[in-house]
Amino acid sequence: MRYSTYISRFAVLASCIAWLAAQAAHAASLPQPGSLSPAALAATPDGTRLFIACATANEVAVFDVASGAITKHIAVPHTPSGLGLSADGARLYVTCAAPQSSVRVLDTGSGKTLATLPAGHSATAPVLSPDGKTLFVCNRFNNDISLIDLETGKEQCRIPVQREPVAADISRDGRFLLVANHLHTGPADAERVAAVVSVIDTAARKVVKELSLPDGSGVLNDLRVSPDGKYAVVSHILPRFRLPATQLDRGWMNSNAATIIDLARMEIVNTVLLDNIDRGAADPWSIAWSADSATVVISHAGTHEISVIDFAALLARLAKVPVALDTSKPVDPISASRVQADVPNDLAFLVGVRQRIKLAQGDLGPRAVVLLGRKAYVANYFSDSLGVVDLGSPQPRPQSIPLLLQPAGASAKGLASPLDRMPLARKGEFYFNDAGICFQGWQSCATCHPGEARVDGLNWDLLNDGIGNPKNTKSLLLAHKTPPAMSMGVRETAETAVRAGIQHILFTVQPEEVAVAIDTYLKSLRPVPSPLLVNGRLSDSARRGEKLFKDRQVGCATCHPPGLFTDLQTYDVGTRGRFDRAADRFDTPTLVEGWRTAPYLHDGSAATMLEVLTTRNAGDKHGKTSHLTPQQLDDLAAYLLSL
Ligand code: HEC
Ligand code: HEC
Repeated sequence: MRYSTYISRFAVLASCIAWLAAQAAHAASLPQPGSLSPAALAATPDGTRLFIACATANEVAVFDVASGAITKHIAVPHTPSGLGLSADGARLYVTCAAPQSSVRVLDTGSGKTLATLPAGHSATAPVLSPDGKTLFVCNRFNNDISLIDLETGKEQCRIPVQREPVAADISRDGRFLLVANHLHTGPADAERVAAVVSVIDTAARKVVKELSLPDGSGVLNDLRVSPDGKYAVVSHILPRFRLPATQLDRGWMNSNAATIIDLARMEIVNTVLLDNIDRGAADPWSIAWSADSATVVISHAGTHEISVIDFAALLARLAKVPVALDTSKPVDPISASRVQADVPNDLAFLVGVRQRIKLAQGDLGPRAVVLLGRKAYVANYFSDSLGVVDLGSPQPRPQSIPLLLQPAGASAKGLASPLDRMPLARKGEFYFNDAGICFQGWQSCATCHPGEARVDGLNWDLLNDGIGNPKNTKSLLLAHKTPPAMSMGVRETAETAVRAGIQHILFTVQPEEVAVAIDTYLKSLRPVPSPLLVNGRLSDSARRGEKLFKDRQVGCATCHPPGLFTDLQTYDVGTRGRFDRAADRFDTPTLVEGWRTAPYLHDGSAATMLEVLTTRNAGDKHGKTSHLTPQQLDDLAAYLLSL
């Protein structure tokens, strides 16, 4: 008896050890917490499986909906930035974003790679034509769209759009591809400053129309056509950048919006605000439609929520608002929108037709969203989890499915929140994208510094250098290495600017560890190679431009010495504008990654590098450029855009 008990105990112990060893091996093969970063989703037509693009793990995970578990990991060569599924669900197209991106064509049954197609710089948003013969891909940093023939696997042409195409969708008849440009292209001090949706005629292979969003609009993130093909919705920020940044109340600085496009007329219907009067819904990210086109779901990356909009009710409400005031008719005593033009300023317009649903505790950074029947699945970038919300329930209780095994003893160590398990830089990236550290959730740091802490292209009248003198948003790449901070150098270091940003732009007080984490994140940023480089090298034109840049007479390198391309000093280089004071001097900015930070100068008055060298350097006070030939100016600009 004793002996057999001993044997069975031993057997239990042995199997425990084997189990632990297996767990350890499994854990070792799992990525570190915080390193999946689910960013894009696609669902099979039968709704049994989800494909999850894991941005920082360079893999696509296959998720079985019934069992709620990942059944397969498919490795891809670079960051999987977008997913597109063939109509029969047999093939998955994965854009793998890099300076030279590719599109992996995967067999969804076996997970095997069927083909690899070429694409441009930081490709994303693959869209299939309805006949399945053509694939369109947004080449974010080439500012164009690849049109790929899927029979031959060859790129047929590139279609130029405006700037940083990040999302696209196609009309149901395949005639028009609608492309969301992330940012605007003009100077920041123009009368109208807004990003556009480019409409491409797929047969003519060119842009035939540009739909301009309301003044200020930018940071477009997603665009989706309704299943019935009648409408498209695009998510974006609607900044109120013409007002001094004195407060946040009622969307004073950034409001969060969706614009509705009527595809039959190919016109904008209107823009609605996703915020409430006293609660912002920061950073609208992805959009999903229900199969019957009756419901639109939008994720809010900054406030960790989804908006569920009754689209038919929204259209009906919009239809009731007159274009012009008709004094013979009574006005709606409740609505603040007396005419259509009021709607984009009406923080109560969605009341009653939209439900805001907070994701489960610990679900952080919702990005992609898909609908399977009445269930919304949300990819949570920062918590490595899937949120599940049953929209059929009158009071949905969001669930969370972790995509990574929790580390052993995590809760015993008090590491219950995904935040506690993140490495410091990742934590900082989270805070940077989190509107939870902002008064009433109106905006995050990333609202003005989108795309990995770069720029929104707008001028903001921050109060740190006085009022009435707006400044163009600066990229935070190298900010910690190039003191002082801000274009007038009013903050001694980037560290000071980070803390001031939390207090005076987000209007809250946060523990020092939040600022330390943000510093760590910002210091971890690395420049992205310029799309103008040819096989990683300067083009011939840029090489000629480099010589001019270093030429004593032209004199750029004295203040912008190669390396950081700044001597860290402030100067008057003749760029003062109508809002600047007579004694104002400006900090010499780094020129690294200038290709993605237009417009230029402290007031964003130069839309292009050529303007910096010509119209904005009339007096030769900013280097000597007046003697250069048009070819030389082009060469110099090519060099600047290659850094
Ligand atoms: C409303 C838009 C807006 C928001 C939100 C915002 N910033 Fe900025 N940020 C700016 C603008 C505009 C500048 C440039 C100001 C200037 O040159 O005077 C800037 C500059 C900076 C700089 C200085 C960079 C340099 O090299 O000089 C840092 C650092 C910075 N921001 C960090 C942050 C952080 C951290 C947050 C969130 C806590 C944040 N910002 C939120 C608009 C914004
Ligand atoms: C005397 C020092 C000095 C010299 C010489 C100089 N720069 Fe600058 N540069 C500056 C300063 C200061 C600014 C910021 C001006 C502003 O914001 O209005 C600047 C801004 C720029 C910008 C805008 C960057 C941005 O992100 O907005 C570019 C591009 C640039 N310089 C290129 C050049 C080139 C090319 C030359 C040579 C033709 C040159 N600079 C010569 C000091 C200098």
